[in-house]
Amino acid sequence: MTLPIPSPPGLPLLGHATLFDPDFPMSSLHKLVQEYGNGEIVSIRLPGGKEVVVIGSQELLHEVNDDERFKKRIQDGLQEMRPAMGDSLLTAEVPGENNWYIAHRVLASSFSAIGLRGFFDDMSEISSQLALKWERFGSHTEIDLLADFTALTFEVISLCSMSYRMNIFYHGGKHPFADAVASYSAEAFRRMHRPGLVNALMFSANAQFTLDTAMMQECVESILQERKAHPTETRDALYAMMHDTDPVTGQRMSELSIKQNIITLLMAGFETTASFLTFVFYHLLHHPTAMRKLCTEIDSTLAGRPLAPDDLGKLPYLIAVMRETLRLTPTSPGRLVEPVADTTLGGRYAVRRGTPVLVSTYMGHRDTRVWGDDVEVFRPERMLDGQFEALPPDSWQPFGVGLRACIGRAFAWQEAQVTLVKLLQRFTFALVDPDAGPCIRQTFTLNPRGVRVRAFPRAGRE
Ligand code: HEM
Repeated sequence: MTLPIPSPPGLPLLGHATLFDPDFPMSSLHKLVQEYGNGEIVSIRLPGGKEVVVIGSQELLHEVNDDERFKKRIQDGLQEMRPAMGDSLLTAEVPGENNWYIAHRVLASSFSAIGLRGFFDDMSEISSQLALKWERFGSHTEIDLLADFTALTFEVISLCSMSYRMNIFYHGGKHPFADAVASYSAEAFRRMHRPGLVNALMFSANAQFTLDTAMMQECVESILQERKAHPTETRDALYAMMHDTDPVTGQRMSELSIKQNIITLLMAGFETTASFLTFVFYHLLHHPTAMRKLCTEIDSTLAGRPLAPDDLGKLPYLIAVMRETLRLTPTSPGRLVEPVADTTLGGRYAVRRGTPVLVSTYMGHRDTRVWGDDVEVFRPERMLDGQFEALPPDSWQPFGVGLRACIGRAFAWQEAQVTLVKLLQRFTFALVDPDAGPCIRQTFTLNPRGVRVRAFPRAGRE
């Protein structure tokens, strides 16, 4: 026998819309799931009557990670990205759109652990550019961490994926391509939450969206033409997309698919990682013992020399800090799936085929049945090797799971290690306002705004 999915009281036309904090809806949903759904499930009605099932327990998150029973849902969310990204990696309907399979297999080698070694020097160089900027500005200058890490992650993904230098640090943190990508992504998220009629009436926002789309397409076109005119042997992602064949079908990616996937890599590759790096600093600066342990580990392991590719993964406390940051503040806080046939969740809740199911990583990472009562505490020790492997399946899933998991996971992991080690070897940090929390804004990602620090060069370092 099935049970009705619990649902909070709502209003006739607006449904549950008035219960959400528009700046951070996932936090409001978390409270509703705690209050009405035993920390595991609620059903929410949106204005217009659409039902969304929200799940937040490790048990249910693990269950929907079955690619045979559930598929990623593009409608109601990521389809707003499709004007510029079409059926690219992030936005394709699978099964159905075959370009996804070709792009996925072609890019798999570039983003594999071995392919990533080729990006190490570029990542290291860009983090040195940021360190140089902070040294030159001096310790009296307030640093807006999210702004600088956004510049860094744009530069890194652009350089590694298509050997294209935006030189953002030399242009006051700005580049028209980067600005268009960021503005497009923010508007796509706002569109997702507006009814279709309201979207149609947002004349100025729509005009900007069209301009941003055109700007991205022009930039990608010129990068592609430049590469055709001046071929290179550099094994970046663009090289793979232009020259490699899909090992299964023997097909190459079409030119349109290449362009859409370049935009996709930029879009998917900057904000998540920039917010992640900012949250790492935020947590460390509020937990001086963890900061001390990490700096001691880096200093004693590397003895002042720069991180080398062979050092990756050899700093266990750093890895624990990164894992714990993405547990407590998962920068991709949720994703949508839908059952491919009528099904029963947890053996007790009936869910019809095609119903949107919001898989909340943010809540799963706070499931007290898995993590204990101190879920809101930043405690990297719980993520050390041994304990981490012993967690129930899919307890920690900041990069998604299964067929549609993040293709850039190892890339982001390497980029974060390179950047964090470089910056912690060169500086000590202090929060400008230690009592201020980050102002968290949710778009497709969680963004920690207003984390401002000062960076003090460490004595005896370059
Ligand atoms: C997909 C998280 C960095 C490229 C995803 C998904 C998550 C995620 C949760 C699944 C989304 C869904 O099912 O709707 C993250 C986090 C990152 C990160 C937390 C950094 C901390 C990156 C980077 C790149 C990237 C650096 C590019 C190099 C992608 C792509 C997909 C994806 C292309 C779509 C995969 C597919 O559907 O086939 N990411 N990501 N991500 N990510 Fe990431």
